[in-house]
Amino acid sequence: MEVSTTKNSIDGDYNRAKAVNEFDRTKAGVKGLADAGITSIPRIFINPPEKLQKSSNTTRQIPIVDLKGFENGGQRRHEIVNEIREASETWGFFQLVNHGVPDSVMDGMIEGIRRFHEQPAETKMEFYSRDRTQSVRYYSNEFLHSSKAAANWADSLSFVFKDDMVNRDVLPSVARREVEEYVKCIIILKEQLSELLSEALGLSSDYLGSTECMKSAAFLCHYYPICPQPELTLGLSQHTDLPFLTILLKDSIRGLQIRLQDQWVDVHPVPGALIANIGDFMQLITNDKFKSVEHRVLARSVGPRVSTACFFSPSTRNVSKPCGPIKELLSEINPPIYKEVLITDLAAARSELNGTRSSVLPLFKL
Ligand code: OGA
Ligand code: NI
Repeated sequence: MEVSTTKNSIDGDYNRAKAVNEFDRTKAGVKGLADAGITSIPRIFINPPEKLQKSSNTTRQIPIVDLKGFENGGQRRHEIVNEIREASETWGFFQLVNHGVPDSVMDGMIEGIRRFHEQPAETKMEFYSRDRTQSVRYYSNEFLHSSKAAANWADSLSFVFKDDMVNRDVLPSVARREVEEYVKCIIILKEQLSELLSEALGLSSDYLGSTECMKSAAFLCHYYPICPQPELTLGLSQHTDLPFLTILLKDSIRGLQIRLQDQWVDVHPVPGALIANIGDFMQLITNDKFKSVEHRVLARSVGPRVSTACFFSPSTRNVSKPCGPIKELLSEINPPIYKEVLITDLAAARSELNGTRSSVLPLFKL
């Protein structure tokens, strides 16, 4: 491995672009570094201390919503809708249990993603790409070249399914069956959440569904290798998610934290749970009623950690239709806060922030 691992200290002649290029050219990702047995991490991964502050609040917990009994329109559905409303208004995050995705399907997905990342580097390299138009690709650090921020200690496999259409042929064969099964289940769950979130906003249950705002799904399947110096870097730096809704599947390794009232709160693994969180675009159309909350993943000396984030965004038909705050939610005392925007405007604004992935919403205020 030709990656320079020695320059951890601050020095004047450090050439970040060169170091980044060397790393990218290996096409072996962070896993390649971990496999090479490095004991000190390359400087491109080292964060300034203020970005690291690893202390966290371990007493508070994101809400757990039990979806059992949501179907029958009865008392339980009413309670579930209230729980989802409260969680979306305060935490922007909730864990879901009894969500209908079988344990075997979730375990299969995690194992399939692990298998993809643990293939011989030469096999995996075929998929290594920075071309965002490619429907399936693998890479390390999306904003590696454009960002001035430290790189994250993780590799990602990404793929996109537009308009609820699952095209299995594009998937890497090593995880094809598992991914296909998981995606089918997650689309059903998304439809249920779309109804429950609509009701939580006081709208008819088909409201969000009829706007097709969550009809396409982008998957990021992360692999966080064991890190030899976890105190110097992050698995995934602080960010908000951009599209409407995220459903996150993760294994039992800790590391996810949520920013709440200036404190980092650890997300405790709940067996069999999936995590749902509100994205920036949902915060925009709900006129700040639902919150898109910052989160991050710590680098760890245990692992590897495997996770899959599924981000829901508009159908191809509606992706070029501007969206603003939902009219039915507005009133004299709740005037619109945001302009009408396209999801691509939000994405472009985020790219311009140079991969810091902080919220772009303030840029779209009226
Ligand atoms: C993301 C994300 C968390 C995780 O991909 O946006 O927040 O646990 N992932 O991998
Ligand atoms: Ni995220």
